[in-house]
Amino acid sequence: MAQTFDVIVIGAGPAGYIAAVRAAQLGMKTACVEEWKTPQGIGALGGTCLNTGCIPSKALLESSENYERVRHKFESHGIAIAGAKIDLAKMMARKDSIVTKMTKGIEFLFKKNNITWLKGHATLVGKGGAGWQVEVSGDGGTDVAEGKAIIIATGSKARHLPDLPVDNEVVCDNVGALSFTEVPKRLGVIGAGVIGLELGSVWRRLGAKVTVLEVLPSFLAAADESIAKAAWKIFNERQKLDIQLGVTIVKTQVGKKGVSIDYEQDGKPLKLECDRLVVSIGRIPNTDRLGAENVGLKIDERGFIEVDAHCRSNLQNVFAIGDVVRGPMLAHKGEEEGVMVAELIAGQKAHVNLETIPWVIYTSPEIAWVGRTEQQLREEGTPYRVGQFPFTINGRALSQDETEGFVKMLAHAKTDEILGVHIINTHASELIAEAVVAMEFRACSEDVARIVHAHPSLSEVMHEAALAVDKRALNM
Ligand code: FAD
Ligand code: NAI
Repeated sequence: MAQTFDVIVIGAGPAGYIAAVRAAQLGMKTACVEEWKTPQGIGALGGTCLNTGCIPSKALLESSENYERVRHKFESHGIAIAGAKIDLAKMMARKDSIVTKMTKGIEFLFKKNNITWLKGHATLVGKGGAGWQVEVSGDGGTDVAEGKAIIIATGSKARHLPDLPVDNEVVCDNVGALSFTEVPKRLGVIGAGVIGLELGSVWRRLGAKVTVLEVLPSFLAAADESIAKAAWKIFNERQKLDIQLGVTIVKTQVGKKGVSIDYEQDGKPLKLECDRLVVSIGRIPNTDRLGAENVGLKIDERGFIEVDAHCRSNLQNVFAIGDVVRGPMLAHKGEEEGVMVAELIAGQKAHVNLETIPWVIYTSPEIAWVGRTEQQLREEGTPYRVGQFPFTINGRALSQDETEGFVKMLAHAKTDEILGVHIINTHASELIAEAVVAMEFRACSEDVARIVHAHPSLSEVMHEAALAVDKRALNM
């Protein structure tokens, strides 16, 4: 007899595990199928985000930033530290222990909420008396479970280049790049996107000479143009992260000790020799081996499951959320879709506003934004006003010695509604939350300008940017 559930979630990344928790909170009998195994062969929940994405990358970002602070920033505070050095094995062990703590935390949440973890690979196989049938094959054999509703949260994997196999030793994707056993002398990175910049910065701070090869002629095309310009100056010119734009990879040759890359730039043939290479050219949805063809689940030409605004697929009671569907590939976007779908299955009303999803790039300084960029508003022909204010004259930023960057607010020229907020600053990931709340409540720049902000705090720069929209910044 097949085990039956009200809801079967496939995938326990941030989208799937949150969907399972919310479904269980709402009183539904819930199972979650997850096949992930650690390098030691132990089953693990949490998906890409916890195991090989958001969490380990942020742990290494923090460690490498501390190393940089000790070497270059403490001196101005009157703190002299001689002989700072890296213990990479310890740094990696710290990262791994954070990952384990977090993934075990989800196991705890599953137990607390009576969620059944079905260990193994899920394949959709058909329809039975109690709902959709999911075959689960794991170490213990193969079983079939039935769910009245199915939530597919199978996430994504790194895109690789066709003729460049990833071994995660010399040629790496995010998995290998988070686990080097020594700091490479020369690190090559293909793709100056989010992963390329974040992990490129980590290894640069730890001592590697990093060269990033990017196919596009412009830097950070998705970000606001003023932010991209400022970031270019900081990363490329000041921090010496060598980013080459408008590059076409012609040939790669991999040896035991390194990689040689022939590429073209401005019609000129060039070569990059590196000890390790990170390929970070985007991610592709996990829809292969899911059994979509067995049940007629619609997949689009790029491999994403087709869904409507409420994450409903073409099949009744089959939903899909997170990286496996349209929209930004971000953990928090998937989580909110998970909550929405669980509530819809329970008969509640729910929605996710994709227009107010914050983006953060965890470089140093960080880059964060929500809403439209200035170039988008220009292209759309939307009339707007801009308010921009720098961190250079903010007391808190000066006390922290972190004065790079600014807040830029874009508001509708007629209604004053905030249309976008863009930040480059060490604490941009925290500061953006105010802008998200303001935009979710459809606030005007005037609203933020009239709200009291604590002094001295970095949030005063948001306040001043809002005032600057109306050309009445007070401290400039
Ligand atoms: P995933 O996290 O990919 O989880 C999917 C799960 O489904 C996996 O555990 C997989 O094993 C399982 N699965 C797949 N198919 C099956 C099957 N058939 N049967 C059983 N199980 C299956 N996002 C942010 O918001 N902030 C960040 O700072 C950030 N940093 C990142 C850093 C890196 C290096 C990377 C690679 C990504 C980062 N991301 C970040 C993106 C984030 O990790 C993803 O958006 C997020 O993990 C997507 O969640 P998900 O639940 O949709 O999928
Ligand atoms: P990305 O889409 O951010 O960047 C990929 C870059 O590679 C682009 O600039 C693209 O133009 C370039 N590129 C593509 N093909 C190329 C080629 N053949 N040669 C040279 N350059 C090429 O993808 P990335 O960095 O792999 O990250 C994947 C996703 O993971 C991100 O889009 C994001 O959704 C998520 N992520 C989020 C983070 C965060 O929220 N802080 C951190 C890391 C990842």
